This record gives sequence, structure tokens and C-alpha cells, in this order.
Amino acid sequence: MSDKKPELSAAMKSKVEPKVFKKNPIIGTKYTIAISSAKGGVGKSTFATNLALALKKTGCKVGLLDADIYGPSVPKMFGINEKPKSDGQKLDPILKYDIQCMSIGFLADQQTPMIWRGPMVTSAIKTFTQKVNWKDLDFIIIDMPPGTGDTQLTFSQEIKIDGAIIVSTPQEVALLDVKRGIKMFDKLGVQILGLVDNMSYFIGDDKKTYYIFGKDGVKKTAEEFKKKFLGEIPIFPEIGKSGDGGKPIVESQPEHQVSKIYLDFAEKIKSIYI
Ligand SMILES: Nc1ncnc2c1ncn2[C@@H]1O[C@H](COP(=O)(O)OP(=O)(O)O)[C@@H](O)[C@H]1O
Ligand SMILES: [Mg+2]
Repeated sequence: MSDKKPELSAAMKSKVEPKVFKKNPIIGTKYTIAISSAKGGVGKSTFATNLALALKKTGCKVGLLDADIYGPSVPKMFGINEKPKSDGQKLDPILKYDIQCMSIGFLADQQTPMIWRGPMVTSAIKTFTQKVNWKDLDFIIIDMPPGTGDTQLTFSQEIKIDGAIIVSTPQEVALLDVKRGIKMFDKLGVQILGLVDNMSYFIGDDKKTYYIFGKDGVKKTAEEFKKKFLGEIPIFPEIGKSGDGGKPIVESQPEHQVSKIYLDFAEKIKSIYI
């Protein structure tokens, strides 16, 4: 008797093998980078918008996908009020500051998505990743919603993400959530490029540096989980003002010292891929 095991038919195989999600790349871009933070209000959208603009300044072609379905920020931070055009099949991204942008906020009343349920969110993500005419991009920067919910899961399981950057502030409460976020990405096989410490310190009128939320919290978390620490961004009121004004600081004040910090981040990210 032969001890050769019988081959499983394809139908049988799909029954016995665990479900492996097929990760679809976003068409029209070489690389997709997710900007994530397990907690809201830590400056993820501010980082995503400024990083997109800084990458553009390094000579890359960049798209910005606002995946924060429940709280889109790109319309306000980029000062976009238009609706995207559709060719019947796909939506055209809106070009602003030479960045191709898409956000749920362009399509729905800003408050409407708040009452959406899971399946609608998943379908919005599919539209943004598969039915947008993203064109000839080097990078798409995804501004993720906070947390480890439906959107994060759908993206991590079904979309090919080349790298995730986790933004946090240095307080303990934020870091607890960061740890959850790191574990989620690790579990789902999304490569974490590193952690960014936002609003790390404040430079007073007396020129002294104040670590308002404690020092090195994000750096220590990175070490603990053996992830790269990508750097710090201090608190500058101008960052908030320029975002609220629809023109992020990298675009509105390219000579500002923090714009140079964003440019350093962009060069670091670019050098990983290009
Ligand atoms: N480094 C910074 N210095 C000053 N204000 C900042 C900084 N980073 C973010 N902010 C402000 O903090 C608030 C929350 O930022 P946001 O990017 O919307 O956070 P998230 O997307 O994580 O919810 C905004 O008002 C933004 O302008
Ligand atoms: Mg945001």
C-alpha cells in the first residue's frame, strides 16, 4: 500500500485551511503607508497631512486618504469644499497642494457618517481603495481613525499596507492604547515602521524646554516592543492654527523649524522604499 497522502481537492482545501485574507493593493500607488494612533486627539491627522506635504517636497507623488470615516479631518485641514467628480465607475481624487486627496467628508455631510454602521464603513473603505482614480503615486498616506475597530481591521486584513507609523503623545493613558495598536498590527502582519512622539515638549518664552506630558514615554514603549523610535515633534501653536486654517504648516510656513522636522520624517520614510 502506498503511504502517499491523497491530494486535497481545492474545495476541500478551502474548508480545512484557516481563512487567509487576500490583501489587495491600492491601484495607482507604489506604496501605502498608514498613520495610526490607538487614541484620538494625539495629532495623527496633523502628522498625516504634514507628512504627505513633506514627502511631496522630497519629490514624491503623494496621495492622502482620509480613512477616519467617523471624524474626517482632511476637508478642514486641506481647506477642501468641493465634491469629487465621478466617471460613473470611479471617483477622481481632489488635487490640492499637488496632493491627490480623498475623504468621506467630500461625499457626505460631515456629520452623517457618525451614524453609519459597520458594513457601511467597510463599503466606504472598499470604495476609497478600489474605486478611486489614484494616479501614478509613489505613496498613499492613510489617515486612520483612532482605535482598533472595524476600519483598522478591514484595512489591516484586506488592503496591502506597506508600513504603519504609530503616532502618540507621551502620557501613560495614550501609551496603553498604543500597546494595543502595536499588538493588533503585529498580529495581522502589518509592518510597523516606527513610533512618533507628538506634542513631546513645549519651548517657553523663557527658551526653556517643558516636557508637559512626561519625557521619553513613546521612546520607551518603542524599546519595549522592539520597534523603531522615529522622533519627536514639539508643541507649536502654529501647527494647530495652520491645520485649522486649511493649509498645514509644511505648506504655509516651509521655513518653520517644525516643517523641517516633518521633512526629516519624510526623508526617513522615503529612504526606506525609494
Ligand atoms: N505638535 C503639535 N503642536 C500643537 N498642536 C498640535 C500638534 N499636533 C497636533 N496638534 C493639534 O491637536 C489637535 C488634535 O490633532 P489631530 O491631528 O486632529 O489628532 P487626531 O487625528 O489624532 O485625532 C488639533 O487641534 C491639532 O491642531
Ligand atoms: Mg484625525
